[in-house]
Amino acid sequence: MPLPFKSYLKKPSNYKGGKSKSEVLTNGRKIYKLSSNENPIGASPKAMAAIQSKLSQIHEYPDRTDQRFREALSEFYQGALVPEQFISTNSGVANLELIMRGFLQEGSECIYSNPAFGPYRSFPKKLGATAIDIPLVGDHFQLNVEGILKAINERTRLLFITSPNNPTGTHFPKSQIDQLIHHLPDHVILVFDEVYYQFADAEDYVRPLPYIQEGKNVIAVNSFSKAYGLAGLRIGYSYSTVEIATYLQQLRIPFMINALSLAAATAALQDDAFIKQTVQLVHTEKEYLYQQLEQLGIPHWTTQANFILIKPPMDAFEFEDAMLQEGVMVRPVAGFGAPDCVRVTIGNREANEAFVKGMKSVL
Ligand SMILES: Cc1ncc(COP(=O)(O)O)c(C=O)c1O
Repeated sequence: MPLPFKSYLKKPSNYKGGKSKSEVLTNGRKIYKLSSNENPIGASPKAMAAIQSKLSQIHEYPDRTDQRFREALSEFYQGALVPEQFISTNSGVANLELIMRGFLQEGSECIYSNPAFGPYRSFPKKLGATAIDIPLVGDHFQLNVEGILKAINERTRLLFITSPNNPTGTHFPKSQIDQLIHHLPDHVILVFDEVYYQFADAEDYVRPLPYIQEGKNVIAVNSFSKAYGLAGLRIGYSYSTVEIATYLQQLRIPFMINALSLAAATAALQDDAFIKQTVQLVHTEKEYLYQQLEQLGIPHWTTQANFILIKPPMDAFEFEDAMLQEGVMVRPVAGFGAPDCVRVTIGNREANEAFVKGMKSVL
């Protein structure tokens, strides 16, 4: 009898995550990592202190159901959501995977819009589902609402959008989201990935929260890897209607999140000062980078996130390699549907200066 491999998993996924610093480090040379949208000032000090004080208890299992963490999240949302509406997972991407596992199967479909975060395309395939790309349109990468609605059929289960979007950094205005949500049939869930929401300040930016409060079939996906600076701890969460969250909760592995991550994230939720400091730095530094990119004549897009999409005047992968020689890691985003472009995380001034200096030498 042959092994019962699933036929659609025979071909390995071609999604490649960003490299870590240790993968590229050579001779102890200083490397500036502007390739994974990490926090430029480190991690929330409250989170680090919480880990220290939890260390003596790591022989004990964490909360089985993460109830206390969900209560902390409910408090963070000032009671706008009840604890039963949250699903915590060991990363934002694990939350996306849980959602897909819950709603996709062989033969089902989902929709996403390139340029987009790679897992929307690669993960459904692991479940035998088909991901349909309805590309973003225009110079400012807007949703093709009509195209999306036309692509929906009886097999469609999920629709993914990210605002601010990775890798473009652009956001989708409230009017577009309204239009989309109000025309979405009942059997389709909108997965609204908002892992960069803290950095958005556009007037017409909207979060998924009000739609979920209205009872719409929307799931909001969040991460502690970006503004909270806890990428190495792997923790994220989603919120949705009680009906959807109760269903997803059944698929979640008990004790999924380790005790240190739970302690850190709970403390980070109360670290407003750290979030303010992070966002302020990103806003100041993006102006510096815009100025430098303009002086160098490098096409780029204004951003609502903590990274900038640029179009270097050479092959994106060659640019990545050349910048690495200059000690700066950047991220080509061909895998995200933007083959000529490179995504650059907004760093602290030292890192951004290294990026500008590197770019001058490369170009
Ligand atoms: C759009 C988007 N969603 C989700 C994630 C997942 O973040 P994490 O798995 O680190 O929580 C990322 C990380 O880069 C992202 O850019």
